[in-house]
Amino acid sequence: MTKPVINSVHAAGRFSIAPMLDWTDRHCRYFHRLLTKNTLLYTEMVTTGAIIHGRGDYLAYNKEEHPVSLQLGGSNPIDLAQSAKLAQERGYDEINLNVGCPSDRVQSGKFGACLMAEPTLVADCVKAMQDVVDIPITVKTRIGIDDQDSYEFLQTFIDTVAATGCKDFTLHARKAWLSGLSPKENREIPELNYQRVYDIKQDFPALFIAINGGVKTLAETQLHLGNVDGVMMGREAYHNPFLLSQIDELVYGGEKSTHSRHDYAEMMLPYIDNHIRNGGSLTHIYRHMLGLFLGLPGARAWKRHLSEQGHKKGAGVEVVEAALLLVPKS
Ligand SMILES: Cc1cc2nc3c(=O)[nH]c(=O)nc-3n(C[C@H](O)[C@H](O)[C@H](O)COP(=O)(O)O)c2cc1C
Repeated sequence: MTKPVINSVHAAGRFSIAPMLDWTDRHCRYFHRLLTKNTLLYTEMVTTGAIIHGRGDYLAYNKEEHPVSLQLGGSNPIDLAQSAKLAQERGYDEINLNVGCPSDRVQSGKFGACLMAEPTLVADCVKAMQDVVDIPITVKTRIGIDDQDSYEFLQTFIDTVAATGCKDFTLHARKAWLSGLSPKENREIPELNYQRVYDIKQDFPALFIAINGGVKTLAETQLHLGNVDGVMMGREAYHNPFLLSQIDELVYGGEKSTHSRHDYAEMMLPYIDNHIRNGGSLTHIYRHMLGLFLGLPGARAWKRHLSEQGHKKGAGVEVVEAALLLVPKS
């Protein structure tokens, strides 16, 4: 019997997968949910404008995704309240306000990371949502922006927003530069400062503090959970999804998963088939599964087959089945 990589952590520990625009769409979340039942999933950021004025259904999700949090982008309390209400009606488990995204597009609409400079406005936004829904309103933010990156700045931000009764903060442990860096660079260049997030937990013991940024392994997850209440993983969870199959056991104390990577791919087939029958395309789904065999023999062949065949007209589950035959069973 192989030994678990890490031991279970304390029961209060929470693991979540970060909101990622274009990545954590409902198909991705369905796939991730197969791999882990307990992990909290976040939608991509959805703007209040899209929800209120958009033509599509920006709140669509699969019922299997629970627990799922809707991440909202916006800074108008009235619009946020209206969006929150609609989200609650649709059955979302939580609403998360984005105070961390540094993209120019987002700043021009005055939301995302630039809101860190306006804690009172963020508090008003949170309060407006709390007033109209019962589900938790949570906040995802950075540890600072531009030259406003002192501990006191972050402390004041948290203090002001927590005064509304907001109890749950996820902190991406690096600051954002609002000009000069692309969103991608803003996830890599500003240095990670985990200690700052640990210090916030020390100073605000009653708040639920989750840490985010650069977490790549379950061992790191466990280390963080000794210092904060939750860990949010983004890019690694997306690129190496099989890692998620250990979360229920190692973070939540559940049963060890007995499913192989092949099993998880096969579990997706009915979902893919249904999506295609309803007019969808395989490309919407297979892209989230490319990393399933990361690092194993056959991983390249799996990716190549899906990428070369998956976008063709009429491509369906047989493409995934054929790609699976290219990977030795482990
Ligand atoms: C492709 C991509 C899209 C992202 N979109 C969002 C988003 O919509 N909302 C948000 O709060 N953060 C977004 N982020 C940031 C992540 O949520 C997370 O904070 C960041 O990737 C750091 O975590 P990681 O090092 O575990 O990836 C995005 C990140 C990536 C890679």
